[in-house]
Amino acid sequence: MKKFLFVLALGGLMISCGGKEKKEEKEGFEINRKKTESKAAEVQESVPVDLDNKGVGPIKSVTFDDTVNEELAAKGGQTFNTICIACHALDKRMIGPALSGVYERRSPEWVMNMILNPDVMLKEDPIAKALLKEYNNAVMLNQNLSEEDARAVVEFLRNK
Ligand code: HEC
Repeated sequence: MKKFLFVLALGGLMISCGGKEKKEEKEGFEINRKKTESKAAEVQESVPVDLDNKGVGPIKSVTFDDTVNEELAAKGGQTFNTICIACHALDKRMIGPALSGVYERRSPEWVMNMILNPDVMLKEDPIAKALLKEYNNAVMLNQNLSEEDARAVVEFLRNK
């Protein structure tokens, strides 16, 4: 009988410990979640939006027709889905930023120069430098695309 009571008491102790741990975990989770939310707000402030900035590199001017050139966009989509996808998604942050709606914050010239000349951009361009910091110094590498291929990717992103 004594032994039985002891086991019961031990069992009760374990249950109460388990309960406590769970509660702490839950609190920890809530705290973390708050932190991430406030970071998302900072993100937008820490990287400037500047549609007049054309970046540093070979591209001085890009002209968009009124309507998207679907053939060119499809070609760009293939490049995007084989090369850029390693670090980018359209709708969520990965190693690099989500690229949906990129022309609301960057000029097409800036995007092309970022594709063709990322090394210099990350050293000299104020937006690229801020991005590098925001993305924990993950470096966007030069994918050695031709100007033509880069132009197609830029067209593809118009649709996204
Ligand atoms: C090795 C990973 C990697 C690859 C591959 C890559 N990028 Fe990036 N990209 C990044 C990172 C990281 C950033 C943020 C700047 C930084 O930290 O270098 C970035 C930034 C950008 C930006 C700026 C986005 C913004 O919000 O201003 C554009 C545009 C971009 N990349 C386009 C592309 C395209 C198009 C390709 C494919 C041709 C590509 N990237 C391939 C990692 C990559």
